[in-house]
Amino acid sequence: MALHLFARTGHPDFLDLPWDEPLDEWDDPRLVDIPAGLHRHVVRFVRYDQGLYVFKELPKRYAEREYRFLTFLREEGVPVVKAAGVATDRHRDGEPLESVIITKHLPYSLPYRLLFSRRSTHDLVDSMLDALVDLLVRIHLVGFMWGDCSLSNTLFRRDARRLAAYLVDTETGELHPNLTDGQRGYDLDLAMERTAGELLDLEAQGLVPDGLDPVWFGDQLLERYTHTWDVLTAQETFAASDRDRIRARLNAVNALGYDVGEVEVSAEDSGAEKLRMALHVVEPNRHRRLLFERTGLRAEESQARVLLADIDGYGAWLNETYGHDLPRDVLDRRWYQDSYLNALSRVPDDLWGRREGPQIFAESLDHWHWIMGEQGREMPFEEGVDDYVREILAPAEVEEVVSAEDAFTAPDPETGPLPMPDEGP
Ligand SMILES: Nc1ncnc2c1ncn2[C@@H]1O[C@H](COP(=O)(O)OP(=O)(O)O)[C@@H](O)[C@H]1O
Ligand SMILES: [Mg+2]
Repeated sequence: MALHLFARTGHPDFLDLPWDEPLDEWDDPRLVDIPAGLHRHVVRFVRYDQGLYVFKELPKRYAEREYRFLTFLREEGVPVVKAAGVATDRHRDGEPLESVIITKHLPYSLPYRLLFSRRSTHDLVDSMLDALVDLLVRIHLVGFMWGDCSLSNTLFRRDARRLAAYLVDTETGELHPNLTDGQRGYDLDLAMERTAGELLDLEAQGLVPDGLDPVWFGDQLLERYTHTWDVLTAQETFAASDRDRIRARLNAVNALGYDVGEVEVSAEDSGAEKLRMALHVVEPNRHRRLLFERTGLRAEESQARVLLADIDGYGAWLNETYGHDLPRDVLDRRWYQDSYLNALSRVPDDLWGRREGPQIFAESLDHWHWIMGEQGREMPFEEGVDDYVREILAPAEVEEVVSAEDAFTAPDPETGPLPMPDEGP
């Protein structure tokens, strides 16, 4: 039996699987049924000790492309599912079988149909649009033309009050040093057409909120994308005396959640009145990186922003209590143990699997502030968390496909330092 199996380290070796059978004929107790987006290939989910993996059967050329693209995009900091391996040159009784790409199942990922059918998300349509726009802009910035942008090929994860979009299906993509306007336009046209089609289908099933017009959705996608792209990439000419232009532009970029790595200013000729400014924008991961450095926690960008603000608030309160400024790392650690872990430890075991830790914390904070406003009184955070658990988390549906036992294991504050993070979702 010829088989070429290429698996990334840190994942199972996958050698125990029946590679000489077509994917849809696999029969193994570890196979699990999970709600997935609409798809054309055979897709199966297999559970290992290391987690859940997704197997997709497709022609060798596409499997290898998808593996390469996913790896490249991940290295560039773009939110994509994690590629774990590819199996090619498979045969059954001498007859060739298609190849298989293996990805790690994206934890707590929500297909769009589930989001619409459950209606449990704040400003769902708006959050979805922003998440999708963010994803498109980010892949375009690194020169990737998706060629298949649709809601089915996107997975969503909760991100504080927003959603974060992850790219799943890349086999039709193309990688270029830079995309032309035509290539970006093509991707956008497809995105508008596909999402409109998907929403029309949902509408037919009565799953779309009243008044949501699929054409409006596509128009919004284009409008928001164009705005973001222009702020991030437009070359701007300004008068040499107008230095504030640079600062204003950096602020506009930051307001969209992005950072600027370099600003390039050039003059047409020396002594010119007019300067030209071009920005080199970097991936909007600043808060998640900072949160990870300070606490070891992995979170989405908006979650990280919320948690970092809370760390600062908590630190200021501790300093005031102690009457002097404690070192930064002491404050971070105190927050982690006394605020973060303390809050999460109030979640009963059987409720794990509804949300991830950082999301529970961010939602608890929101709920706590809301309830104090409603009742017009101060309340200890613990009480707010308990109310959140009772009123919001307990009635919520399970969103993780792993069993509740392995969803969250709090490290022992006595023996362990901060938890060993896994590599992120
Ligand atoms: N790594 C993953 N994590 C979670 N869900 C996944 C993952 N890979 C695929 N899926 C699910 O499977 C569906 C089909 O995958 P996709 O790559 O789009 O297949 P196809 O090429 O057949 O369209 C997706 O819409 C998604 O719901
Ligand atoms: Mg697909």
